[in-house]
Amino acid sequence: MEPTVDLPSEFKRAAEFPVVQSWAFLNHAAVAPISRAAHDAIVEFAEQAANDAYLTGKWYKQIETVRELAANFIGAHIDEIAFAKNTSEGIAFVASGLDWHRGDQVISTAVGYPTMVYPWMDLAARARIEHVELRETDGRFTTEQVLATVTPRTRLVALSHVEFGSGFRHDIAAIGRFCRSRGILLCVDAIQSLGVIPVNVHEMNIDFLSADGHKWLLAPEGAAIFYCRRELLTALRPEVGWMNVINANDFGAHNFTLKSDARRFECGSHNVPGILALGASIRLLQRVSLPLVYRRVAALTDYLRHRLSEKKYRVISSARQNETSGIIAFESPYGPTVHDAVVRELEEKRIIITQRVGRLRASPHFYNTFEDIDRLIDALPT
Ligand SMILES: Cc1ncc(COP(=O)(O)O)c(C=O)c1O
Repeated sequence: MEPTVDLPSEFKRAAEFPVVQSWAFLNHAAVAPISRAAHDAIVEFAEQAANDAYLTGKWYKQIETVRELAANFIGAHIDEIAFAKNTSEGIAFVASGLDWHRGDQVISTAVGYPTMVYPWMDLAARARIEHVELRETDGRFTTEQVLATVTPRTRLVALSHVEFGSGFRHDIAAIGRFCRSRGILLCVDAIQSLGVIPVNVHEMNIDFLSADGHKWLLAPEGAAIFYCRRELLTALRPEVGWMNVINANDFGAHNFTLKSDARRFECGSHNVPGILALGASIRLLQRVSLPLVYRRVAALTDYLRHRLSEKKYRVISSARQNETSGIIAFESPYGPTVHDAVVRELEEKRIIITQRVGRLRASPHFYNTFEDIDRLIDALPT
């Protein structure tokens, strides 16, 4: 088991995450509570929008600061970051923006969140690409399995860094190294990792990444980070609106020249409160320090895994080093048919987990406590 990792003494849990006063919330892989910092950013925006007329110029400058923050957070250059509506939109930028040829192959997993499945099914139907799905065995994949599936026609490998149903973490760095050496593109859905697992897009040789803020980033839904490697900016055809062009504010000019950086993917007005809130939560995570967040989540999930096994619940999530995440998927000794009832009973006891793809799923974040895990274990039927 991981040793206990304490929260910094200056971190005031109930002030930063008021949710802890009412709930043992262990469902960050779904829609997480927003941090107090994100809440304050939204309230400040609302106050300004209601009272101070429109401060669009000021807010859009703040958005550029968040862009820089997001770039630093994932090891990208600022000109590689666009804001998207959600994870799916970022993935759709790739699926609909690349110039596909009949017979191109896309590799994804058979257990992916629909965001990482339907765009390739759509391309198979409409552009006659070949969509190959990797099968999961006991909640795991191997890197060798990914590499062995590649053929000379493989154009794109599309993976969720962390699989939503099992919590399995792909070795993106190894897969990225391989793909780059063969000229294969790597597209990563990072919504289940960003905010808990360190990600460096350049070191990991990721070409495209998308992640909304409403899970491990502790921000609201509807404001996502989309990364496109600098060399590929012109390889993706954007959806075009008024804002993708260089003189976007010169409304009468109609000079259709796309911006040279990733802002070329932003076709219209931003979700200002969402992006400002996202920035506030990223700052909070940096203040606490991401390595500490990662170690603490590892300690909490390790403890949870251990206590579930003691209670004869079957843990599906891999315990192997580098395959773990913030997600623990497990099964009741009475089988999946009781999972619905278990989730409802827990909610009555003010403990939130969920069920996905026939498994129970708990996903604690760094501000949860070992007592929260004990509460869950004590409340689970024996
Ligand atoms: C792996 C994965 N991708 C994407 C999403 C959600 O995507 P979006 O931000 O487009 O709503 C989820 C949500 O559960 C997810 O688990």
